[in-house]
Amino acid sequence: MKRFIAPSILSANFNCLEKDIEMINQSDADFIHFDVMDGVFVPNISFGLPVIEHVNRIAQKPLDVHLMIVNPDHFINPFAEAGASILTVHYEACAHLHRTIQQIKKAGVKASVCLNPHTSVVALENIIGDLDMVLLMSVNPGFGGQKFIENTYKKVAQLRALIDKQNPECLIEVDGGVNYDTGKRLFDAGANVLVAGSFVFQSGNPAETIRNLKTI
Ligand code: DX5
Ligand code: ZN
Repeated sequence: MKRFIAPSILSANFNCLEKDIEMINQSDADFIHFDVMDGVFVPNISFGLPVIEHVNRIAQKPLDVHLMIVNPDHFINPFAEAGASILTVHYEACAHLHRTIQQIKKAGVKASVCLNPHTSVVALENIIGDLDMVLLMSVNPGFGGQKFIENTYKKVAQLRALIDKQNPECLIEVDGGVNYDTGKRLFDAGANVLVAGSFVFQSGNPAETIRNLKTI
């Protein structure tokens, strides 16, 4: 099973973001994860296009952009132009998800859908064949450093069965409360990509933490 690590810069030091991006560039990380929040879809505001545009100038890893926003259709092309390699929209924010996914692909970006903790994997059974990745929230979106929701392991296993049947190339990404313990259990349940923010950036040696997460 392919295993990837996507550090979330939500927990990076924005007083010297360039230093943290250079750390990621030199590390074993596979993606850089950006948690874009609008204060409407989620009860927090993080950052947007200017941060992605600036990081894109120095990033040596693909930009994995997680849109926790309403009306994501309006921002697909701007984030694609800003440098996103993967764009994740929330299932719960899309009235016409199939059209949104087609729009992401037309913009030349990999298409991913995110499910909040309460949303069943079954909701994706008619769109899974069109996806490059599915992101499962293992916390309620909006903040880093939250407690991992244990039911996520069951959802990963359910999603792994659906993907293996319909679209084996589709990746499973999990986001929220990832550490060595939850991360190992997530990989064992069938996840491919671990998003880790606070566990990486609050550790004494982020590059070593990323390396260790990859081989847990
Ligand atoms: C929640 C965010 C967080 C972040 C990772 O909306 O998406 O899950 O990426 O947070 P921690 O600090 O739990 O790894
Ligand atoms: Zn995220």
